[in-house]
Amino acid sequence: MGEKKVTEEKEETMKSKTSLVFAVNGERFEIDLSSIDPSTTLIDFLRNKTPFKSVKLGCGEGGCGACVVLLSKYDPLLEKVDDFTVSSCLTLLCSIDGCSITTSEGLGNSRAGFHAVHERIAGFHATQCGFCTPGMSVSMFSALLNADKTHPPRAGVSNLTAAEAEKAVSGNLCRCTGYRPLVDACKSFSADVDIEDLGFNTFCKKGLPCYDHTLSSQVCTFPEFLKKELKSLVDPRKYRWSSPLSISELQSLLGLENGVSVKLVAGNTSTGYYKEEKDKKYDRFVDIRRIPELTVVRRDEKGVELGAAITISKAIEVLRENESVLILAKIAAHMEKIASRFVRNTETIGGNIIMAQRKHFPSDLTTILVAAGATVKIMSTGSGVQEQYTLEEFLQRPPLEAKSVLLSLTIPSWRPVKNGSTHRAGPEHSQMKYSPLNTHLLFETYRAAPRPLGNALAFLNAAFSAEVSLNEAGDGVVVNDCLFAFGAYGTKHAHRAKKVEDFLAGKVISDEVLMEAISLLKDEIVPDKGTSNPGYRSSLAVTFLFEFLVSLTTKGLLNGEYKEPLKPEALLSSAQQIVENQEYSPVGKGIEKTGAKLQASGEAVYVDDIPSPENCLYGAFIYSTMPLARIKSIGFKENRVPEGVLGIITYKDIPKGGQNVGTKGFFASDLLFAEEVTHCAGQIIAFLVAESQKLADIATKLVVIDYDTEGLEEPILSVEEAVKKSSLFEIPPYLRGKPVGNINKGMSEAEHKILGSKISFGSQYFFYMETQTALAVPDEDNCMLVYSSTQAPEYVHRTIAGCLGVPEHNVRVITRRVGGGFGGKVMKAMPVAAACALAASIMQRPVRTYVNRKTDMITTGGRHPMKITYSVGFKSNGKITALDLELLLDAGLSEDVSPLMPSGIQGAMMKYDWGALSFDVKVCKTNTVSRTSVRAPGDVQGSYIAEAIIEKVASYLSIDVDVIRKVNLHTYESLRLFHDKKAGEPTEYTLPLLWDKLAEFSGFNQRVKVVEEFNALNRWRKRGISRVPAVYGVPMRFTPGRVSVLSDGSIVVEVPGIEIGQGLWTKVKQMVAYSLGLIQCGTTSDELLDKIRVIQADTLSLVQGSVTGGSTTSEASSEAARICCDGLVERLLPVHAALVEKTGGPVTWESLISQAYQQSINMSVSNVYTPDISTGYYLNYGVAASEVEVNILTGETTILRTDIIYDCGRSLNPAVDLGQIEGAFVQGLGFFMLEEYLMNSDGLIVTDSTWTYKIPTVDTIPRQFNVEILNSGHHKNRVLSSKASGEPPLLLAASVHCAVRAAVKEAKKQIQTWSNDNREGIDLSFDLPVPATMPVVKEFCGLDVVEKYLEWNIHQKKNF
Ligand SMILES: Cc1cc2nc3c(=O)[nH]c(=O)nc-3n(C[C@H](O)[C@H](O)[C@H](O)COP(=O)(O)OP(=O)(O)OC[C@H]3O[C@@H](n4cnc5c(N)ncnc54)[C@H](O)[C@@H]3O)c2cc1C
Ligand code: FES
Ligand code: FES
Repeated sequence: MGEKKVTEEKEETMKSKTSLVFAVNGERFEIDLSSIDPSTTLIDFLRNKTPFKSVKLGCGEGGCGACVVLLSKYDPLLEKVDDFTVSSCLTLLCSIDGCSITTSEGLGNSRAGFHAVHERIAGFHATQCGFCTPGMSVSMFSALLNADKTHPPRAGVSNLTAAEAEKAVSGNLCRCTGYRPLVDACKSFSADVDIEDLGFNTFCKKGLPCYDHTLSSQVCTFPEFLKKELKSLVDPRKYRWSSPLSISELQSLLGLENGVSVKLVAGNTSTGYYKEEKDKKYDRFVDIRRIPELTVVRRDEKGVELGAAITISKAIEVLRENESVLILAKIAAHMEKIASRFVRNTETIGGNIIMAQRKHFPSDLTTILVAAGATVKIMSTGSGVQEQYTLEEFLQRPPLEAKSVLLSLTIPSWRPVKNGSTHRAGPEHSQMKYSPLNTHLLFETYRAAPRPLGNALAFLNAAFSAEVSLNEAGDGVVVNDCLFAFGAYGTKHAHRAKKVEDFLAGKVISDEVLMEAISLLKDEIVPDKGTSNPGYRSSLAVTFLFEFLVSLTTKGLLNGEYKEPLKPEALLSSAQQIVENQEYSPVGKGIEKTGAKLQASGEAVYVDDIPSPENCLYGAFIYSTMPLARIKSIGFKENRVPEGVLGIITYKDIPKGGQNVGTKGFFASDLLFAEEVTHCAGQIIAFLVAESQKLADIATKLVVIDYDTEGLEEPILSVEEAVKKSSLFEIPPYLRGKPVGNINKGMSEAEHKILGSKISFGSQYFFYMETQTALAVPDEDNCMLVYSSTQAPEYVHRTIAGCLGVPEHNVRVITRRVGGGFGGKVMKAMPVAAACALAASIMQRPVRTYVNRKTDMITTGGRHPMKITYSVGFKSNGKITALDLELLLDAGLSEDVSPLMPSGIQGAMMKYDWGALSFDVKVCKTNTVSRTSVRAPGDVQGSYIAEAIIEKVASYLSIDVDVIRKVNLHTYESLRLFHDKKAGEPTEYTLPLLWDKLAEFSGFNQRVKVVEEFNALNRWRKRGISRVPAVYGVPMRFTPGRVSVLSDGSIVVEVPGIEIGQGLWTKVKQMVAYSLGLIQCGTTSDELLDKIRVIQADTLSLVQGSVTGGSTTSEASSEAARICCDGLVERLLPVHAALVEKTGGPVTWESLISQAYQQSINMSVSNVYTPDISTGYYLNYGVAASEVEVNILTGETTILRTDIIYDCGRSLNPAVDLGQIEGAFVQGLGFFMLEEYLMNSDGLIVTDSTWTYKIPTVDTIPRQFNVEILNSGHHKNRVLSSKASGEPPLLLAASVHCAVRAAVKEAKKQIQTWSNDNREGIDLSFDLPVPATMPVVKEFCGLDVVEKYLEWNIHQKKNF
């Protein structure tokens, strides 16, 4: 009876429910299910249908964290809310039915009050461009919320430990800050840290703003109204999205009409990797996460059974509950390195296994589960038959049919060991106690990946189990049984090295046996053809097998000789040293960045956050995949125009009078679209316009371009070919590198020479978190308003006018803020804005685009690759007498800014006194995407070239490289010789001072000795330490400005500089407050700060804006504003004097302005800053020392410590400058250590996603990161004595690369000692490539280092 009632009620509610109901930031949303396309993602919905724009799109593939939101689920039985982060770019909207979403603006905002997380991010200066910050805020909030949920923390702090705080943001990418301040902000909540120990923050003196964990729970992640609506259910048969509640419901759904395409969905995260899945059309989506059989968790004596729809996070939790069973703990620990927390929270174990089974995904899970002997339960939904397989068998079977379901996975309990002991042996085998009676089970997992904490696929993963016991004599370990699984190395499935297993069974482990096993293994672990770094991957297999077994060798066991390499797990720490200046206060103070809290809450508006005007259309670029080919036609597959597409715009559509121009830059103009012939892969051919961005992006994949290469020459794809064919760009004489001194004389004075040595560099992608974007709105009378995310609105403006064929006054470009530029939004933003303007003009409708990450990576180019050949002459003490250098620079297809490169390269190289220098650069035109400025363009390569040469000389002479550096540092006289007037006054040359100060500050000399000792004691880990100087020349540019005072005393400032995260607005505000404060009315400069607003750049309001770049825009804009303020002060002083006389003073700012208004005084001043010969150029100086530890078995580098000392003059804002220094350094780290921007043989970029392009993350930065800003006193030609900080510190990251080289050299020396006759020719003067990725480092340490060691060991034994 009761049962019937329940069924009736269920039917009743099922009937009534026709829509999705959920909450966003406490607001109820209801959407008719029949109106939803089930492939709609949560981010699509949030950004397009709600006002909550804090959710940013950075990658669309789960790799960056910009889109992270908090998802809360209510369990009515337990009356408990589960809160966890998810990536909204992978989460399907329909899957959040009954859930509540909280975005960063939902945590707090400018109207309701900011959350403590926002305040601390601002106070720790942990936001620059702000594009990553809302996602960071949500990740931090979630960590705090969950830490403090079960038991309340002490007042004012959180239970979150410092270690957990560090991990809280480990999956979120930030390209600006360098992470240190973000981690500090998060750590500031932890009870186990002292605020004073955290890096520079504005709370040190004032005291932290209060954190009350109860307020976090007041954020109301799950509103009451939603709890009441949970009971209703959706009729699973009625809509394209269904969530069956039982296996039988699932069966009936899958058994529906034949021919209906059905997609089973769990977390949907697979679409981050298999992006084509996003575009596929399915008739039905079946969400399997509510079926009890798929969410089961069962533990019994047989093992642990986990439903296939259990998330990886949940699985980790379950396995950790059995922490005493070490195999489960090991599996859980390995699982924590899969993806990042916000992906693990939704991705399921079943989804992972199916991806591996059907599509050969390089899974971690399957490898470790194969080694654990896991089994899977499969059900064919047609027959309902359930089958059980070992996971290993299952992986080998044909791909699982679309309508079959993986129900669960079981990790078996390990069989009882031989002697009946219940002991489950763990990995601490080196500490195990052996007795003849004892048999032990060992289990260990391994992975080598570019990021230690996850969010990177493994080069190879492995998991091993073995049952071992002591042999009868008690002097050796016998392998009774073993299982070795390897995966992700370019194999279809996790692979068991059975030959090795068979060979080892019954053997006593010895070096000889190991050698034999390794040789068998090398035949078994062979990556599939086409896999990158095959040799490295195979060597990792050897490494891991060795690590697992070596402690069981007689020698290892009895002598305890082998020490498992211990990774330094030290937490990040920092000791920032800031001296605030009071002289020009508030200039010189480390005040909070303007708009920091708005950025954290996500209220700051970027171009793509501007609501779409009515009728807006969306564009997507179509680019060439051929390097040189005729474009015969452009059409769609099967000639079918996809839904929602309005047209494809090519050069033929450019209006009469307009030009096919996509950039009007410094040198030549460049095309917007390829014309009859495309000249490089990645060149823009057309702009497709559709009704939504999603439709436009999908439609571009359906475009078919018919190419023809007949009669065309071969494309030029290398600088050598370019030189051969004289395909070169002209360098204007004033930009050509100048020789210094007499090279022949210098060479003749040399006692030694190195001739014809070579260095080469690849490219680097900007990786701004906000990709290229623009919105064009047609206006009356053939005018066009364009919002562009650009560093050069003036140039965008000119380009659009040229393209449309209208006078420049018909165009207006507005830029408020840019979500990261790094040079990439100077030239490369122009075609994006021009294409939108052109489409808008043709269609007479607003047109916008937000370029997807892949297209952005393929079409924008990046840093210039180059090849260098040099000859250097030097004395026996290392003093260099002459350097002759030839450089071939790959500019790609067009000139862009390439002619500027030689002077940048040469300028940075001239940090040393080369005696004489001759310099020949060829700027090669190739059929590759045009290269452009990327933060410190040319300078970073130039600075590194200098280091590579110094290192070579040191190796040649066998003298410590630090000594060679010191010997060749400039005196002031030689500095003058090389840099002429840029060298400034003798007192301004602070590099020697910094050099010595750094040694003291970092304890450099003592640490060199400690490193030596470490290297003598450790076989598999080597350390290196290196100190590197940087000299960076910057030009100042003509800069206009305008300062206006409104009638209420509020102040509006217009400068042409764009806020790209570098703190320009903050510095300008400080300057205006200081300058207007000189009136000395009753309102202080500090009070004036709050009255100032720097507004967006508008090319019709302030003309001649030029470019934001070259590091000096902040100071030039500040100076322009200061000059304007001088004008205002001049006008206001008499008014002030008269008022004081009349009232007796003091006079408030408001009454002063009110009086000025009454007297009709012009309260707006425009003026320009024009640098002269003495102020136009100057040099910046910095020194860094880095210490690294290299794991020579895996090639992994850990940066143990970096100390930087940087001369900022008198910093305008030391907090902002510190952020610039750290951020630039970490970006440089990416260039030197991680980032490979690779092309295929046609020149098409192939590292085009977060899966393949790895920028630094929180776990790859220096564990200890100390920066000191030197306040180098008065510089009369500088803006209030200040100096630039945006780009120069990037060069200092070379210190890491040099330290790695030193460590690798130690590894090589060690191998030399293993050579049995000690004469093996090992080159110690090697050049380590840039970037020194894990495979590169391992290759240089020796792919066969393990074999060499064993051979040596065996040989030694024989001889004794
Ligand atoms: C940024 C990122 C990084 C990652 N890094 C790693 C990593 O380092 N190592 C690693 O191993 N993995 C990694 N992954 C992969 C991740 O583990 C998988 O994407 C995830 O486990 C898939 O689970 P899902 O629930 O999202 O599956 P879905 O995307 O929902 O489904 C995947 C496929 O399996 C099917 N399917 C799902 N469940 C079942 C079932 N029970 N029965 C039958 N068919 C089913 C679906 O129809 C679909 O075809 C990463 C993923 C992302 C997004
Ligand atoms: S946009 Fe979702 S993770 Fe990058
Ligand atoms: S502040 Fe993090 S990406 Fe710019």
